[in-house]
Amino acid sequence: MITAPRGMSDILPQESWRWRWLENQFVAICHLFGYRELRLPLIEHTELFQRGVGEATDIVRKEMYTFPDRSDRSLTLRPEITAGVVRAFVQHKLYNSEVMPLKLFTYGSLFRYERPQSGRYRQFNQFDIEVFGSSLPQTDAEIIAVGMAFFQQIGLTDTEVELNTIGCNVCRPQHRQALMAFLQERLPHLCSDCHSRFELNPLRVFDCKNDNCQQALTGIPLMQDYLCQECQDHFAGVKLYLDYHGISYTLNNRLVRGLDYYNRTVFEFFDPQTRAEQGALGGGGRYDPLVAVIGGPEVPGAGFGLGVERILTAISAPKLPEPTCDLFFSTVGKNAEYHAIALMRALRQEGISCEMDLSDRGLRSHMRRADRLQVPLVAILGDNELTEKVVILRNMQTKEQITVAWEDLAAQVLRWLR
Ligand code: HAM
Repeated sequence: MITAPRGMSDILPQESWRWRWLENQFVAICHLFGYRELRLPLIEHTELFQRGVGEATDIVRKEMYTFPDRSDRSLTLRPEITAGVVRAFVQHKLYNSEVMPLKLFTYGSLFRYERPQSGRYRQFNQFDIEVFGSSLPQTDAEIIAVGMAFFQQIGLTDTEVELNTIGCNVCRPQHRQALMAFLQERLPHLCSDCHSRFELNPLRVFDCKNDNCQQALTGIPLMQDYLCQECQDHFAGVKLYLDYHGISYTLNNRLVRGLDYYNRTVFEFFDPQTRAEQGALGGGGRYDPLVAVIGGPEVPGAGFGLGVERILTAISAPKLPEPTCDLFFSTVGKNAEYHAIALMRALRQEGISCEMDLSDRGLRSHMRRADRLQVPLVAILGDNELTEKVVILRNMQTKEQITVAWEDLAAQVLRWLR
């Protein structure tokens, strides 16, 4: 038997309507905050992620699905969305053609070659927003507010925000120096991954989950003690605006995020109930240097990515029942079947969803299907009804059954559905 690749799932009809519902909620929140949609390819040139996400990150070092195409160009299934958004922003010179700041949202699949486990898949999905052209702290706060409004809307009202700042090009070198000196002394106690992090980007040691490393790193120099005045002011501004948004947060001075493009604000969202089992619901931050790194002008940016699978796991009770057709048309005989097609066409024009049997089975089996699919109404059309130009309309919940003239059918269906 051929199965889906490891870490990649089929979303079957029983589950897919929750996805559709969640996507609609996300899009609605984005529109509420004035964000506009962007759609991107799933494949990009490998160089984009090497430059954008950073050679030192786990994503680029170990997790990318990279392959040569038939012309021997190196392509990669996107392991994250931000670099692609920035690429499009630069490629289409949106900084010239659009009104800045530009607020965008997008969503879809990503691919990371990770060890599959709870909350960790090889193909997964993100909801993503990005804002270009504002370096002000109110932007960082608004982005967090969009995330929190979304979580509120879908019933994840306990969602927590963890917040940190990782400084900028001015103050980071001093911190890096202190960090290097600190790590140099402890290298013998650190894992091999931390050795390469030390070589490539020492900030990444904060990501290490190894217990020995965590112990050896007690007393590690923290960015907060090295922030320049501008970064301090910016961070104070973010916190002030979060207060005005009515959002409480926890400061986490070890939060650095797993991608190299961030500067200043970084944050993550957690659901306290599922945090231990599956990690963060999402995260993001500011990335002022990234647009220039990808070849554009110096335009600041910030955004977030939310893990769709993790959110769906965290939502215990779906807010809506799975949608079904409003009406099932049960016909007896060929003539009735032909007429039902026209009657259903009229119903659909009134926005009433309906279907009929496609398998040539009898009335009893039609009723069973309507029951199993929980279709609320059944219309029955046999020879007698055909002669009298009526249908029998049955309410599957109350079992009430009435005879309705064809021309009154839509109105009666709408009355019962209401
Ligand atoms: P990230 O932290 O790598 O950030 O991913 C964001 C979220 O995606 C995570 O918090 C998690 O919920 C989900 N996620 C990550 N990896 C997996 C996985 N293997 N399986 C299932 N879910 C996963 C980014 O990707 C940044 N591009 C976010 C961003 C946008 N920053 C600024 N703008």
